[in-house]
Amino acid sequence: MQQPVVVQHPLAQCHLAAIRAVGTSSHDFRRHLNHLARILFIQATSGLPVQPTQVQTPLAQTQGAQLARPLVCVPILRAGLGLLDGILPLVPEAVVAHVGIKRNEETALPHAYYANLPASLPEADVFLLDPMLATGGSACEAARQLKEAGAARITLICVVSCPEGLAAMARTHPDIPVFTAAIDDGLNERSYIVPGLGDAGDRYFGT
Ligand code: URA
Repeated sequence: MQQPVVVQHPLAQCHLAAIRAVGTSSHDFRRHLNHLARILFIQATSGLPVQPTQVQTPLAQTQGAQLARPLVCVPILRAGLGLLDGILPLVPEAVVAHVGIKRNEETALPHAYYANLPASLPEADVFLLDPMLATGGSACEAARQLKEAGAARITLICVVSCPEGLAAMARTHPDIPVFTAAIDDGLNERSYIVPGLGDAGDRYFGT
């Protein structure tokens, strides 16, 4: 089992504080979340293999690098979409796949309603994106679907996590590393993360 990587970069912690604040507008929430997603993604991709290339500078030939494998980002609909804007400018060649998993608000159990996954999953480095790792139900189900479709190298990026969600991931998918900006105290009776930041999708989309 892998220990979660808590990204404690000072800038990450500042952007996290901004999106936690109840008075932050959707506009500012998006802006700070974009920055935070980018920082988390940079950390989560730091071990990716590259292959050497030759680059001609204006002065000489030198060695360059390109990613050795295709990269697939998989936001869990809907809130996971909020992480894409910060990430895609760094990897414009990435394929974006989608899984739709809705939480039943009464039971807090995941309901899978959509999946659009590329054939390149088996060769790819796959980044599963969900801002909130609460019960872990959605992330575990999404990871199950990705593995069933052939994904062999999956990393989960979540902004805020909690012990319950991390334990579910460790139990169900011990091979999947988790990158997060915070491990919060736990879940309330409605399975929201406390202190958390509320409903990430509602805050991002302004609904
Ligand atoms: N989803 C959210 O958006 N927030 C939580 O706290 C838990 C699940």
